[in-house]
Formats: sequence, structure tokens, C-alpha cells
Amino acid sequence: MNACIRSVVRTAISRNVEVIGIRRGYDGLIRGDVFPMDAASVGGILNQGGTILLTARSKEFMTREGQEKAVATLKRHGIEGLIVIGGEGSFHGARVLGTEWGVPVVGVPATIDNDIAGTDFSIGFDTAVNVALEAIDKIRDTAASHERIFVIEVMGRSVGFIALEVGLAGGAEAILIPEVPYDLDTVCKRIASGRARGKISSIVVVAEGAGDAAEVSQRIQEGTGLSTRYAVLGYIQRGGSPTSLDRVLAARLGYAAVDHLLAGRHTSMVGVSGGSVQVCDIDAAWTIEKRINLNLHELAQVLSI
Ligand code: F6P
Repeated sequence: MNACIRSVVRTAISRNVEVIGIRRGYDGLIRGDVFPMDAASVGGILNQGGTILLTARSKEFMTREGQEKAVATLKRHGIEGLIVIGGEGSFHGARVLGTEWGVPVVGVPATIDNDIAGTDFSIGFDTAVNVALEAIDKIRDTAASHERIFVIEVMGRSVGFIALEVGLAGGAEAILIPEVPYDLDTVCKRIASGRARGKISSIVVVAEGAGDAAEVSQRIQEGTGLSTRYAVLGYIQRGGSPTSLDRVLAARLGYAAVDHLLAGRHTSMVGVSGGSVQVCDIDAAWTIEKRINLNLHELAQVLSI
């Protein structure tokens, strides 16, 4: 997100537009927690995870009164357009501001879950995948030395994008995601037949929306009779210095968001499709179904015999 904030601020300045930062999202907008940003204010943040603007969930903004206060802040500070960096919840808020209050607004997709349609990738996804992959590579050392099965739970809310990517990249023997029904007896048979062929350890990746690592681990241990452990990677996936892919994506989307806002393409979102930056209506984020690539799931199965 910091890489995107930097891009928005510096692109806007290059277009002779003043930038006001808002702390804690809609909550800060309601409370008037805003401050001017110049090129120097976004120096030295490109390699930092998180967001210098802070983030919060705002219940008050879901009410008409909250929205009225937010719009009053915009008016008071002469803010003529808004760029919202976030996930689906942030985009719903942006749509309300755009359609019900006439605020010119453009959304930039940023969530590790990658569950926003209208873009192939959201900011943060690649970094989260790489953090999880590094952890899995390390866990594999113990799995191999102790000849164990490891069940590793990754984030993703109700979708399996992180699990699928990490599972394929990490050579997992099974990838359990909400989009593909699974049967643990089949997983056990697969692991047992791998062991019979001389495989000494196995990794099972489970998306948080597809099951609980502790329960899956217990079932696999019972079903195979093999020593099984589990690890829930949790919040480490939301931190760390962003990968080059994420930094470049953030730079491109921040730049595009400013230009589309200035060009009057309001209540929209920017994204990437097939490598190119595109713009579409913001509600595409949830009205279009974002499909997971099932071929990757199949590929992971084939390669992990
Ligand atoms: O949406 C990002 C995410 O990290 C999900 O993967 C996870 O389920 C959720 O946020 C955790 O959010 P919270 O800390 O609010 O429970």
C-alpha cells in the first residue's frame, strides 16, 4: 500500500494537483483526520509493508450520518476527488460516496486475498504468497528430517488464491481450497501411496476458508498412521517488504488511478488484465465472479506425485 500511496502522491504532484492524506480510511474522513502530503512525505516508504496512512474498519461510515460527516470533511478541505486503496469493503464505501453523494472516486485494489474481480492481481497478494512460500520452504526442512506430514494453513478469507499459488510453488502434495471440493480419505490415500513409493515427507496446504489446519492434521494422522504436525501461518502473511511485482503493480495502479480521476472516469476501479492496466466500474469488484484457475490445481496434483 505504501508503494501505491507514493505513486498516487507523486503522480498527482506531477499533474499540479494537491494531495491530502486521510488517516485510518473512512474513520479518519469522518473525524477530519487529514493532512497535506508532498513528494518528501512519501520518501523512504517504498520498501515498507503496511500503510503509513494507517487503516481501520469504520462501522460509523455504514450509517447515513457517518457518510454525511465524511462528505462534510471533503467539502471543508476542498477535496475534489478521492482515491481509495483497499479491498471489497473499501470499494463498497467508495461506491456509496460516488453514487449517493456525487464524490468523484477511483478505487485501487489492495488485498492479500486477491478476491477482487476487475483485476488479475491486487496489491499485496504477491508479497503474501512469497512470505508464505518462504515459511513453507523452512517447514519442509523439518518435514523431511523428521519424515513427517505437515499441514499448513494460509490466509485468503473465503477464497483459495493464496493457497493455490503457494501450494503449486511450494510443491504441496495436496492443496485444499474452498473452490474445489475435497475428501480427506482421498488425501490420506495419496499421502500413503507416496510414502509407499519412498516419499519421506509431504506438505498439505489448506486455505483458511477450506478447513482448519488442526482438524485436517488430526484426520491425516489418523488416516495414514504417519506423524503429522500443523502450522497456521497467520498474520506474518500480511507483513514484510513488498516484492518487486507488488511494487511495480502499486506504481502502475496508483498512476492510473490519478489519471482516471482527473479524466472524470468516476466511481471506477483500476486493475491489471493480461499485463495491461485497465479501468472498469467499481462494482465489477463484486458483481463479476473472479474465478480461480483450476488448471493450476490440476497441475499441482500432477507434479506432486
Ligand atoms: O482480508 C485480508 C485478511 O488477512 C484475510 O486473509 C483474513 O481472513 C482477514 O484479513 C483477517 O482479518 P482480521 O484481522 O480483521 O480478522
